[in-house]
Amino acid sequence: MKTIVILISGRGSNMQTLLEARLPAKVAAVISNEPQAGGLEIARQHGIATRVVDHRPHANRAAFDTALATAIDSFKPDLVVLAGFMRILTGAFVNRYRGRLVNIHPSLLPSFAGLDTHRRALEAGVKVHGCTVHFVTPELDHGPIVIQAAVPVQDGDSEGTLAARVLAEEHRIYPQAVRWFCEDRLALTPQGTVTLQAARGAGGALISPALDP
Ligand code: GRF
Repeated sequence: MKTIVILISGRGSNMQTLLEARLPAKVAAVISNEPQAGGLEIARQHGIATRVVDHRPHANRAAFDTALATAIDSFKPDLVVLAGFMRILTGAFVNRYRGRLVNIHPSLLPSFAGLDTHRRALEAGVKVHGCTVHFVTPELDHGPIVIQAAVPVQDGDSEGTLAARVLAEEHRIYPQAVRWFCEDRLALTPQGTVTLQAARGAGGALISPALDP
């Protein structure tokens, strides 16, 4: 069974859906850079170990990332999951977890990388918006895409109504993506895209796609 560490900065609703998804994995810890993150209490209620690695006392990004990596590595995770973790990570940190660091971003990448995605989507007048789970690479919000979900942008949408519609899809696709990782079903092509391998049952038998949960 795979071991997971989840990184958060805030309310932790994506983290909560992961904790409640009955994944074939052990969530060893939830780590926040924000001592006041609401998600920490939710994690504790689920009996998950929590740690705070506050970025503020560290002299620079590299020093914070080293402290963060030390905390993460103490749990020996197979996968590190960014769930609303709002710090930009150094290339050294990202490369340390290459292929086992995933993020959820509230837009259909490569559109609207960065912050304020819902406002920017409304300003651009796009009719379809959504969210993306991707492997993390040193370039912000640009890694190989695992899964996306699209939602319509409706006339009269505010940032809030659009964000809520997207968030519901985030809560659907993030557990799905992490489940695929835990089942060793994600493969990287030479072109740097992600493919999904067929599920295998006990004894290595292929499972019909129709039966794949
Ligand atoms: C989500 O919209 C996520 O996509 C973005 O930050 C938000 C975090 O929400 N990166 P939560 O903390 O998971 O509730």
